[in-house]
Amino acid sequence: MMIYEELKKDHKKVLSLLDQLVASEKSGPDTWSALVQQIRDELVPHARSEEAILYNALRDLEPSKDTVGHAYGEHAQAEAVLRGLQLSDALDLKWVGAVKQLRESLAHHISEEETKVFSAARAVFSDQEAAAMGEAFVQMKPRVREQSFAGNTMELIANALPARLRASVLRFVPEVDPRPAAGRGA
Ligand SMILES: [Fe+2]
Ligand SMILES: [Fe+2]
Repeated sequence: MMIYEELKKDHKKVLSLLDQLVASEKSGPDTWSALVQQIRDELVPHARSEEAILYNALRDLEPSKDTVGHAYGEHAQAEAVLRGLQLSDALDLKWVGAVKQLRESLAHHISEEETKVFSAARAVFSDQEAAAMGEAFVQMKPRVREQSFAGNTMELIANALPARLRASVLRFVPEVDPRPAAGRGA
């Protein structure tokens, strides 16, 4: 599948999980926490892989430069809100407002991605390249999911830096065991 379809599939999933989170307001703190965790598990690997595979390839090109630059910041904001939701262990009504806001800003982020970013990418990459990027995206996500919170944060920072500075920050990202979990023995 081309990268565009892979990304769209995730976008739909995250927005529907956020709808469930708003609706779960009355089901109690356990359902709430489980859903917040599920959203983080979807969103963080999506965002890191999207940055590494799509954004980093477009960030220095016109006309997508400004849109992409802005989008790194929107990832960071969304993740900060989710982190806050995760740390507030009991369901608190003020968080319902925060979730509604997060859903709105992510819907906006996603619609920009699927229009401006996708059309910039379609102008630069062949269908074959877009399919290879889709494959790389699928392979990268589970690896991000295994990374620590600190590792993810460092990668977010590194992705947003100019290319020549990126390597110096990535040195601090803890290594992830590249073997599938099942093949690691004990
Ligand atoms: Fe996305
Ligand atoms: Fe995004």
